[in-house]
Amino acid sequence: MARVAVQKGAKDVIAEGEGALADLADSGRLPIPFGCHSGRCGVCQVQVLEGALAPPGKLEEAILEGFQCPEDVRLACQAFVEGDVRLRAVSDSVPC
Ligand code: FES
Repeated sequence: MARVAVQKGAKDVIAEGEGALADLADSGRLPIPFGCHSGRCGVCQVQVLEGALAPPGKLEEAILEGFQCPEDVRLACQAFVEGDVRLRAVSDSVPC
């Protein structure tokens, strides 16, 4: 069981689970905004602060490249949890 923490202000919101980050975010009420849920809008961008998510698939890679995101930014609707990770929603600061 992985621990997923999402920075929200000075605190972290935490959920435990595995698999699709979007499912975990929904069930754990993680503060990550979602739009299309299909890898098109970019609203769900998260920065990986600690740990790692499973490597991105080809669709996610192409979208992130299109948005010119730095390597530590991922799409929460496309990403999978494979271990403990700490994230921050990019929409909380300056989107890439
Ligand atoms: S919710 Fe639109 S790209 Fe993830």
